[in-house]
Amino acid sequence: MPREIEHDAVFYDLKLPDRDELFQAVREVVQTMKHKHRTVVELQPEEMQALVQAMTGMTLKQARQVLAYAALDDGKLTMGDVDRILHRKTQLIRAGGILDYLPLEDNRVEWGGFANLKQWLARAQVGFSPAAKALNLSPPKGILIVGIQGCGKSLAAKAIAREWKMPLLKLDAGRLYDKYVGESEKNFRKAISLAESMSPAVLWIDEIEKSLGATGTDTDGGLSRRLFGSFLTWMQEKSQEVFVVATANDISQIPPELLRKGRFDEIFYVDLPDLQERGAILRIHLTLHKQDPRDFDLPTLLQVTEGYSGAEIEQAVIAALYRALYLEKPLDTDLLVQEIQGMIPLSVSRKEHLHQLRTLAQDRFINTR
Ligand SMILES: Nc1ncnc2c1ncn2[C@@H]1O[C@H](COP(=O)(O)OP(=O)(O)OP(=O)(O)O)[C@@H](O)[C@H]1O
Ligand SMILES: [Mg+2]
Repeated sequence: MPREIEHDAVFYDLKLPDRDELFQAVREVVQTMKHKHRTVVELQPEEMQALVQAMTGMTLKQARQVLAYAALDDGKLTMGDVDRILHRKTQLIRAGGILDYLPLEDNRVEWGGFANLKQWLARAQVGFSPAAKALNLSPPKGILIVGIQGCGKSLAAKAIAREWKMPLLKLDAGRLYDKYVGESEKNFRKAISLAESMSPAVLWIDEIEKSLGATGTDTDGGLSRRLFGSFLTWMQEKSQEVFVVATANDISQIPPELLRKGRFDEIFYVDLPDLQERGAILRIHLTLHKQDPRDFDLPTLLQVTEGYSGAEIEQAVIAALYRALYLEKPLDTDLLVQEIQGMIPLSVSRKEHLHQLRTLAQDRFINTR
């Protein structure tokens, strides 16, 4: 804004259309389609709601367009078009460049272990209920999950969205940063507005210490600090049902303001999987690759995977399957054990780092299991 007219200008943040506006737009398009193009509309009132729900996060123009396309393509508007709208929305959000979108319909994640976290989530979920609203309770804000690589932090973010039947929006924090001054903050506001228009939704901020948390440096003219400030303010004030799942590998990089009580509802710490959890992970990944877990000597496998992360166990299963295919024989316990023992897990190669993280986190944060 040129300085001469700055104080005469009124700033107004245009939000994305809400459900009522979208509903109105859908009705208009449906009317036009019926009369002008003889489209057959086979939608019950509750199906109209599903259609509108699928369109949240789109602009009115995008919503009208996608609906018109869906109708003209086969001369019909049916429940089957919801999928097409979701698909188009995924493309539009990705093309926007800041958020990635995982519709609930495509989220098929499975997670083992995490008993404490699961229990916490079950309790927190009541915060979204009408009963909680009636008591003037605000919905849960979000959690931070810290822990070493490959222990299932990203997996947890997806699983929470799945468990709560919400769409997942992943903030690509790296792409928030724009070379033009002011654009980054605009990008951030855009992302937030999109998430809010799609609420209830899970907003996942991966590796928050690398993006919003990097407040130690002044090399970017304080930009990351300002973004971080905007984020904190938004967290504090948000009333929409946008649940933030932030993950971090390195707590020493996280500014203390973020760890203070009241920012996140809870901070969780993920350690290496214990015996039971390793069993669950092994079963999930064996089954995923069409192996029957009962064909393997589980106690031996549990013993040799001590100190291995979920990602490492998954990697061992895949590598062993490759070997089995190459050797033209079925996968067995021996092949798995060889792969496992041939690996050097992070708990060995980065022993000091793990120890440091553990001592820092253990008495400050809640263990996920
Ligand atoms: N509890 C678990 N149940 C099932 N699979 C798991 C579990 N933990 C880890 N895995 C497997 O390990 C892989 C890596 O986990 P994930 O990407 O969630 O780790 P991360 O903690 O986000 O790691 P990073 O810090 O590298 O991002 C997952 O894709 C999953 O297949
Ligand atoms: Mg991750």
